[in-house]
Amino acid sequence: MAAELNKTGGTFGTHGGPIDVFYTPDGGKRHPVVSHGKGAWIWDTDGRQYLDACCGPVATNIGHGNERVIAAMMDQAQKICFAGKPHFENQPNIDLADLVTKHAGPGFERAFICSGGSEANEAAIKLARQYAITRGETARCKVLGRDPGYHGSTLGAAAISGDPASEAVFSGMMRVMPKVPAPFNYRLPDNHDADSYARHAAAMLEAAILDEGPETVLAFIMEPVGGLATGALVAPDHYYKAVRDICTRHGVLLIYDEVMCGAGRTGTFLCAEHWPDAKPDMITLAKGIAAGYTPLGLVLAPATMVDAVTRAGGFMHGHTYVANPLSCAVGHAVVSELIDNDLMANATKMGQRLRAGLRDLQTRSGILGDVRGLGLLNAIEIVRDKETKEILPATLKAVYRLIEIGMQHGLLLYSRRTADGKYGEWLMVTPPLTVTEDEVDEIVIRLGKTLATFESELD
Ligand SMILES: Cc1ncc(COP(=O)(O)O)c(C=O)c1O
Repeated sequence: MAAELNKTGGTFGTHGGPIDVFYTPDGGKRHPVVSHGKGAWIWDTDGRQYLDACCGPVATNIGHGNERVIAAMMDQAQKICFAGKPHFENQPNIDLADLVTKHAGPGFERAFICSGGSEANEAAIKLARQYAITRGETARCKVLGRDPGYHGSTLGAAAISGDPASEAVFSGMMRVMPKVPAPFNYRLPDNHDADSYARHAAAMLEAAILDEGPETVLAFIMEPVGGLATGALVAPDHYYKAVRDICTRHGVLLIYDEVMCGAGRTGTFLCAEHWPDAKPDMITLAKGIAAGYTPLGLVLAPATMVDAVTRAGGFMHGHTYVANPLSCAVGHAVVSELIDNDLMANATKMGQRLRAGLRDLQTRSGILGDVRGLGLLNAIEIVRDKETKEILPATLKAVYRLIEIGMQHGLLLYSRRTADGKYGEWLMVTPPLTVTEDEVDEIVIRLGKTLATFESELD
């Protein structure tokens, strides 16, 4: 089965080919071809069945084959799939913006709708920039980010992402923005515990703002609960308040990138709801907002900000697919599913069960160093030695091998080596928000087998 699953040596041919032609050398391992999916399960064209413990790259949040979403998609497709901004408003756009801003609450009255997370972050920082100009703060153009951090792969989003490996290749093509440390809490400097390191990380933000010159700093962007860049990192509560206060003190806009952690994944519709005293000025969403059914991204911003920009001539930004009717109809159906079925409550409950199962696994595994997360945004950190927290050698490409072994055990896991593995290696364990107790238990069983197989290959 192992040999068949990732066939080696299969050539891509001389033209066309799967997306992997951009990532894998010809003759390298081939992935199976997907056939269909239902709920948390996916089948390939050879009839193998996989339990989806990751939702792809944490996108398919309400599971596959949702009848309500498919009906909304079909209904809108039959009416019209595209209507351009220069000529028409479209009702699905209005309905989605109404629904999302209603649930986001005061301070987020407007929704700019685009096609994905990178686009949403680009739009957010450009809107922030234009807003600063309307206030006469023309020097404000630096957007500080965290190291590590991820906000997308387009050049603007890459410039605010903290990934030294990407920077090494692309820095000459973009204006790399200053970074401050992420408040890690597993592998810490000797003189710190998690609390003191989070205080230190917040202090580093203020120091960076002062160093850059507060009048030049436009915004600070961070993932309130980390995605892949930090492996579901959750900071101590005081960190969020400290960051909010620092930004307010220096007139810096606080942007939460909720591309991965938003849309119900951490147990609340917006991740920001966990820290009501640290509300950001803007929020970006993608992935779970259309749950993989169509490309969709979204920027939430206050009406005052948007009104100021439109009065000054309007947003100098857009794409052909902004507020696409088909994607908006899908987004509306997905958000309705989240709310009507209170999938946030299920995310909280199943997240607790999943972490308990993973912690139990941790006691039995020699390489499962850390389990962390909130709701159903969770990660496991893999180490060579649990005592020393030593990172596995980069040459092992551990996370890629674990994904491969997972598939052999009928389990889908998500990871990608970020920052060249400098901060450690982890896998996301992020099943759909519709996951059942039995499925959570099955994920833990299959993950246990996956880790054991990998461990047996070491040494
Ligand atoms: C936190 C975060 N921000 C932004 C992005 C970029 O989103 P997209 O891949 O839809 O452009 C991602 C994607 O993984 C992400 O995890």
